[in-house]
Amino acid sequence: MTVVAKEISQQMQKLIQLLEKWNYEYNFLNQPTVDDKIYDQTFQELKDLEEKYNLVLPNSPTQKVGSKIKKKFHPVAHQIPMLSLESTDNYEELVRFDEKVKKKLGLNEIDYLCELKIDGLSASLHYQNGKLSKIVTRGDGWTGEDVSVNLPLIQNLPKNLPEKTKIIEIRGEIYMKKEEFQRLNNELKKRKLSLLANPRNAAAGTLRTLIPTQQRNLNFFAYQILRHDNDKVNETSNQLNCLEKLANWGFEPSPYYRICHSLEEIQKYFQEVKEKRDNLEFEIDGIVIKVNNYEYYEKLGNTNRFPRWAFAYKFPASIVLSEVKDIQVEITRSGRVSYVAQIIPVSLLGSQISKATLHNYGFIQQLNLAIGDRVVIKKAGDIIPQVVQVIKMNGQNTCWIPPTNCPSCSALLAWNQEQIYQHCPNEDCPERNIKSLALFASKQGMDIKGVSEAIIRKLYQVNLLKTPTDFYRLEQKKSELLKIEGLQKKSVNNLLNSIEQSKKKPFFCLITALGIPLLGGVKSRKLVSNYPNLGSLLQAVEKNELEPIGKLLGTETQKEITHYFQKPKNLEILKDMEKFNF
Ligand code: IVH
Repeated sequence: MTVVAKEISQQMQKLIQLLEKWNYEYNFLNQPTVDDKIYDQTFQELKDLEEKYNLVLPNSPTQKVGSKIKKKFHPVAHQIPMLSLESTDNYEELVRFDEKVKKKLGLNEIDYLCELKIDGLSASLHYQNGKLSKIVTRGDGWTGEDVSVNLPLIQNLPKNLPEKTKIIEIRGEIYMKKEEFQRLNNELKKRKLSLLANPRNAAAGTLRTLIPTQQRNLNFFAYQILRHDNDKVNETSNQLNCLEKLANWGFEPSPYYRICHSLEEIQKYFQEVKEKRDNLEFEIDGIVIKVNNYEYYEKLGNTNRFPRWAFAYKFPASIVLSEVKDIQVEITRSGRVSYVAQIIPVSLLGSQISKATLHNYGFIQQLNLAIGDRVVIKKAGDIIPQVVQVIKMNGQNTCWIPPTNCPSCSALLAWNQEQIYQHCPNEDCPERNIKSLALFASKQGMDIKGVSEAIIRKLYQVNLLKTPTDFYRLEQKKSELLKIEGLQKKSVNNLLNSIEQSKKKPFFCLITALGIPLLGGVKSRKLVSNYPNLGSLLQAVEKNELEPIGKLLGTETQKEITHYFQKPKNLEILKDMEKFNF
């Protein structure tokens, strides 16, 4: 075997081990620890490697038919197959679905019944002579598993139906509420067991437990009534009536449903649902659009995988797998150390990401994160990507060790009492000064346009800019500015012009620009309301007159103000600033 082939087969072996572990957790322990999307991505990665190098290891799960191992539940054949749904997060495909439906039916307009797409697992309840008799999973769509041992775990099912004689099947989605999922994970954490990946996997694991040992609560949303009569399959004539009937029978029908008459109305519904998503008690991953009138179902028919009368329009996936290349240590203005994971670039919700926040060292320790680990990345509030899970590749269980010294000034980093945060104690740390200067020039401060942190850094390094007052001395240093790499005549002129303009900002902006903690624009304006300029303010500081106004802003803010003005270095800067008529 060549060196490359050996390396590749080692890498494949690691992926196989991971997939096997996840399969075992899912199928035997009922404790799936990763999201299905992450399982699928890893499975695909293995498949891609196999194709690229034309090498398949004998134990590869890609070679197993139905790679997930089956357990011993009684199989039940579905009288009517439980199909899946055609799904996408691409609007054009939704448009195509609508076009196809209308074309096939020869109609220009159609009523759709839109529902939430519950992130659970579909199941079928059997009512025999009006009595709840069993629950069957979807399985492969044709044959499911009888998981009735777990019926008592489902909280919101009517035990009886008003119709006694027929066999009636109710289909819907089994799910776990977010709160219950949290409760369960807290319990697992206390017992130092692996945590469950998400509510969907937790529900799947719970429903497929052979011998239930732990109280776990599940719920059910109903969306379909089927009768096992030869002459009639559907109980009602349209989906709207079906949901209403389900509610009358004591089921919780899939909530927030709505009739939509056009694609525009569907888009509006989708947007509304998207905004509601985080506040719902359960997880959803999109909406389901169903032709409302059942009369059309036969004409539309099914493919062998899904019906042509329904379509799932999903939210774009918000998690993705990547790998940590490095952990960067950054010193903030206050001296607190922040940690940022540099990851192999991946695309998530339409943007390319190469960094993820790690908050503080306590967070890194909790994740047990090390360089080289695989990580699950999620967009928090759809803005800053965060590491939410770590996947150890080689069984090693190490955690990254933080630096002991400040990367900027080499001072020994201090820890807070709980050993969660590190902090650079050096008040004159270059990095802290650069960040303070950047805040001074920023929009929240003096709004010196066109001055980036990178320019400030360069000016700081050549001693042209050490304190905020130095901005106002740059005019006399034009020739030195022109020597700086990347600064042309035009940009120097623009820079000096913006600095001049900033002098016209109201006085309170200068106070905000100092970056006194808790003192934003509104409070700064209040603090200086009786003082037209820096001179009068500094006099008030000397006479202790500022304190009563500070108190009005709250005790914590007051403390910060006093703390700031007590430092001789700060007073020196402000006195120096007075020379520029502030
Ligand atoms: S209707 C013939 N309605 O989504 C299929 N499915 O991705 C009829 N799902 O297997 C399914 N919420 O498990 C329907 N309101 C809803 C749903 C829903 C979630 C699931 C269902 C299905 C999967 C397809």
